[in-house]
Amino acid sequence: MSKKTAAITAVGSYVPDYILTNEILETLVDTNDEWITTRTGIKERRILKEEGLGTSYLAIKAAEQLLSKQNLDPKEIDLVIVATATPDMMVAATAAYVATEIGAVNAFAYDLHAACSSFLYGMSTASSYIESGRYKKVLLIGADKMSSIIDYTDRTTCIIFGDGAGAVLFEPNMEGLGLQDEYLRSDGQGRNFLKMDAGGSLLPASEETVKNRQHYIYQDGKSVFKFAVTNMADAAAKIMERNDLSHTDVNWLVPHQANKRIIDATSNRMGVDDSKVMMNIQKYGNTTSATLPLLLSDYENQLKKGDNLVFAAFGGGFTWGSIYLKWAYNS
Ligand SMILES: CC(C)(COP(=O)(O)OP(=O)(O)OC[C@H]1O[C@@H](n2cnc3c(N)ncnc32)[C@H](O)[C@@H]1OP(=O)(O)O)[C@@H](O)C(=O)NCCC(=O)NCCS
Repeated sequence: MSKKTAAITAVGSYVPDYILTNEILETLVDTNDEWITTRTGIKERRILKEEGLGTSYLAIKAAEQLLSKQNLDPKEIDLVIVATATPDMMVAATAAYVATEIGAVNAFAYDLHAACSSFLYGMSTASSYIESGRYKKVLLIGADKMSSIIDYTDRTTCIIFGDGAGAVLFEPNMEGLGLQDEYLRSDGQGRNFLKMDAGGSLLPASEETVKNRQHYIYQDGKSVFKFAVTNMADAAAKIMERNDLSHTDVNWLVPHQANKRIIDATSNRMGVDDSKVMMNIQKYGNTTSATLPLLLSDYENQLKKGDNLVFAAFGGGFTWGSIYLKWAYNS
């Protein structure tokens, strides 16, 4: 009997309508389109502007698109995982609200947080539930409203991040397709370089933390860049080596979208041609947990059953890794 694997069988996505261009950012901080484009590859990002809407709104929209594309009854879903760094609230799980709103009334639901690696780690978690045979339909959503924790007076962070969401469905596969291998790592020394200082248990919210602008994301961009370049490329190279994949075997690199130069370094290290590198950083920026599923959604029509996909991500914590997955369907 062939082994049960966990395959992605459907994809959905959502980005808000409002477009924050480099030109608009020029009016907010001391920056310019040329600097942002050459240093990061970003031209514009989507922002959820409407008051009273959080990450759950983005997640629900992406999940609903998947359900309607797949004509899937939400009652069949066993588990909903929302990968996010910006939950609606610190305590109530965003995923529980999302599951209820989409009608996944037979599911249990929880959030998974590993900064920009949340979705990558979530792929491992979702797949394990399927491979174990315990559940048959796991909905993994990557969603972030990064604009809720961005300081739009800080030019070193506000140019990078945007809002969005993507959703994938994991189901059992008996043809050997789906997740093949993973290499996941973390290093807690990294938390000083990319973080939001206040609002957690270490430094609860106070008048002082608000005054000191500690509820916004802070990054030491240069250090993060150095660690990201090395570790993302290393992880992807390791996955190729471990699975005897040459650059011609890889059909697609699916890289986290934080900086085009980090993506280029990873594809160069793998020897993978630019035409095989999924890229949407120019129109969405870094959407944290949403970047990988947004890429799958944008490129879904070009993917073929049996394609070899190498995912790679790096994020706060630090957290990083790479996943090798065989695509399971033709669109
Ligand atoms: C943030 C990042 C784009 C900055 O690019 P960089 O090439 O490292 O730029 P530096 O920080 O060295 O800054 C170079 C100069 O540009 C300036 N600068 C910084 N941000 C600027 C901006 N938005 N517009 C114009 N100039 C800017 C700096 O002040 C510095 O000026 P100086 O030389 O006079 O001091 C880059 O470090 C990066 O992408 N880091 C990783 C970010 C990341 O991946 N984060 C998420 C991880 S999931």
